Amino acid sequence: MRATAVAHPNIALIKYWGKSDIERNIPAVGSLSITLDGLTTTTAVSFNSDLEEDEFLLGGQAIPEMSGRVSRCLDLVRERVGAQTRARVESNNDFPTAAGLASSASGFAALVTAADAAMGVNIPQNELADMARRSSGSAARSLFGGFVELRLTPDGPLPTETRQILEPFDWPLRVAVAVTDAGPKEIGSTEGMVRTERTSPYYAGWVDTSEDYLAEARSAIARRDFEALAEVSESSCLKMHAVMLSARPGLVYWNGATVECIRKVRKLRADGVPVFFTVDAGPQVKAVCAPEAFDRVAAELAAVEGVSQVLASGLGEGARVVAS
Ligand code: PMV
Repeated sequence: MRATAVAHPNIALIKYWGKSDIERNIPAVGSLSITLDGLTTTTAVSFNSDLEEDEFLLGGQAIPEMSGRVSRCLDLVRERVGAQTRARVESNNDFPTAAGLASSASGFAALVTAADAAMGVNIPQNELADMARRSSGSAARSLFGGFVELRLTPDGPLPTETRQILEPFDWPLRVAVAVTDAGPKEIGSTEGMVRTERTSPYYAGWVDTSEDYLAEARSAIARRDFEALAEVSESSCLKMHAVMLSARPGLVYWNGATVECIRKVRKLRADGVPVFFTVDAGPQVKAVCAPEAFDRVAAELAAVEGVSQVLASGLGEGARVVAS
């Protein structure tokens, strides 16, 4: 009744922001991401009938504010199997938690994968992805490696369907993550999404344009067209931050160094370096580039004032069991 799984964060190139159903945590828009290999969450789950409650440790410490979400995620696996047994969950990230580096994505992807293996059920990957999605919208994508798309399937057996669209080695891009502030973000994504939907006059436009962006990105990936993927990804990112900024009160996830990194990436691309930026609900800048451009991109970002660290990553595999 024990298993350990690893999962990596993913970063969305075509972003999701907003929920069509807050109770069931169904995203308002589809999304498309790349899974990273340089950052890892490792989670051990052991079900034990002696436990009266689930226990959750992150980095060796109890995190009471997260334990409810962890238990609710385990409940989905327990309900699927018809089990009641409580579990001890020990999770470790080798990167800063909750700073816009998608630790919840890798965290819940590793959790459902380890829980499934510990129960010995072998739930299909797409179903595990949908379970992870209930806990964190972006977590479904970390079940898969390489380039991944989450589609809304309101008429399907599950409300979302997540699938790999390209293996990591089919287009081995690299990612430099410029850390500009490693502290936790001020406003969590669910609260930010609800505020945006309720108050932004641009929210409908954000939702209405998402399918066209997904189609463009899918086509750019099929053609391995870096420039086209760069253009549509930066636009999706800026469109998401525009709708966040237009909420009341406006959501400003960036700091000064975030803006300087964006300007640096744009300057590099104008000079012919194959690189583009993306930024999630936090101040870190992820620069996606061709492998040969990585060293230059990382060095240029490290030189930006306010950047404390540049993390290196390639594209990685989906969540998987490493020990049982
Ligand atoms: O996974 P959540 O519900 O915390 O939402 C994260 C949303 C963004 O990271 C900002 C965008 C995305 O698609 O990952």
